[in-house]
Parts: sequence; structure tokens; C-alpha cells
Amino acid sequence: MKDLLTMNELAPEEIMNILDQAERFKDGESWNQGTSKYVANLFFEASTRTKCSFEMAERKLGLEVIPFEAQTSSVQKGESLYDTVRTLEAIGVEAVVIRHDLERYFDELGGLKTKVINGGDGCGNHPTQCLLDLLTIRQEFGGFENLQVAIIGDIAHSRVARSNAEALTKLGAKVVFSGPREWFPPEYQDSYMTVDESIAASDAVMLLRIQHERHSSTSLLTREEYHESFGLTVSRKERMKEKGIILHPAPVNRGVEIADSLVECDQSRIFKQMENGVFIRMAVLKRALENN
Ligand code: CP
Repeated sequence: MKDLLTMNELAPEEIMNILDQAERFKDGESWNQGTSKYVANLFFEASTRTKCSFEMAERKLGLEVIPFEAQTSSVQKGESLYDTVRTLEAIGVEAVVIRHDLERYFDELGGLKTKVINGGDGCGNHPTQCLLDLLTIRQEFGGFENLQVAIIGDIAHSRVARSNAEALTKLGAKVVFSGPREWFPPEYQDSYMTVDESIAASDAVMLLRIQHERHSSTSLLTREEYHESFGLTVSRKERMKEKGIILHPAPVNRGVEIADSLVECDQSRIFKQMENGVFIRMAVLKRALENN
């Protein structure tokens, strides 16, 4: 039984094992858990994809899902995250999926037997998003060695960028970054490319949403100006590699980081990523709950 908190804790072999299990679930494999297993999804931040695909994954695995809504829970009375998860553990919940706006919220959950699967922590990590991105890339190219992946946009506020940069580099891909300089963390300066260069030279182009909710001030750029300067425009898409693919964790701001007409174009894998998310989350839940 294992937590999944960050991509950093997974060795390359373990990442490949999760991707392989996800492929087997995609091909119809089922998991016989023996006795009933109970899980809960604790979302303290908005989500459509992560929350719904975890719920889909849990139902496909035949897990018992204990309903939890932050708005009607005793968190509203001031109960801590630790006491919330400890309570669920006491009543028999074996694994929780948590999304929280506090970076590394999981540091306060040490010592619990209930396994924690991180569904996103502030600007920190989003390991299951990263794993579904990796699965989508591997389906397309067969592996990661010698691939170049461009991550473009609001890098500083993106947990997806951080998780993907760690994992892709570990697996042998080259990661380059692009986007507005003011949203560019100093540690990635050596991997900076212009938007035009990075889109034309990369095998996978991953666009990121502007995370307005994590900004202390509003951007000086209008939507149109951002699109022209840093977005995947129709003309930039024409200069992509013939076999290059477009990724986006979503939700997408159509017409901002990507042209509306490109969201479902021939090279886009955005909805494939969401489909893969269910199988990845099945694999991660199995890993969290099985005795090994
Ligand atoms: N990609 C992603 O995490 O989407 P949600 O915020 O809708 O879960």
C-alpha cells in the first residue's frame, strides 16, 4: 500500500509499472480486491477532470466511495486536515484522494495508515496529471528517450509543469520552457526558448492555463495579446513537427493559450489525456490499496 504525493518519489521503473498497469486496465483487465475497500475524495479546490475521473476509476474498480463534501463537512467548524483524514481512517477509509490549495498539505498527514493520493497541492505537484501526460506521450512515441517536450505558459504557478519537468527529465526526455518572463522561475532559466522556437522544435507541445486564481496582480496582457505573443496560434501550429502532438492539462482558455479551432485538431491529444486519466487513476488506486 503506497501514498502518491509527488513524482519525485517514483523511480523510472515504478513510473513504467504504473503506465503498464494503466494500459492493462484500458485493455479491459479488472482487479479482484477480495474484500470491500473504502475510499474518499477530499476536494478543497475546484476540479472537474481530476475529481470525476477519480470517481470513474473508483467505480470501475468496484471500490466503495464514501461521499465527502468540504462545504458540508466539519472543516467548516475549523477541523484540521489531519483530524479530518484521521476521522476517515477511524471509520475504515483506506485511501483518500486530496486536492488542496496549500502547497505540500500532505506534510501534516505523517503517521496515518490511510494512504494519501495527491490530486493537486497549490502550485506544488499534480502527480496523476503527470502520469496521464506520460501515458499519452508514450502511446504516441513509444518511449521518452530523445524526445523534446515544450512546456509553455504560466510556469511559475503550475503544479503540472513542475511534476512533468521532474518526471520527463528522469525518463530521458529534454524539457524546454517558454512563456512570459515574469512567470518564469529562475531554476528553469537555462531551459528557456522562445515560443516560436519551442513549438517548431518539440515533439510534444504542452500548453498551460494562466492560473489567475494564484496571481497576486492581474496580467497586463489582454487575452488577444497573450494569444499572439505566447499562445498556440493557427500559424504557429503550421510550423509544428508533422508528428508533433498538442497537450494541455485543461481546463482550456480557448483563444488564449490555444486557438479555439486547434483544441480538437488532428494533432491535439487533449481529450485523449482525459480518457487516459481514468486508467492512470485506476492504476494509482490499485497501487495505494493492494498489499505488496
Ligand atoms: N487538469 C486538471 O487537474 O483539471 P481539473 O482542475 O478540472 O481537475
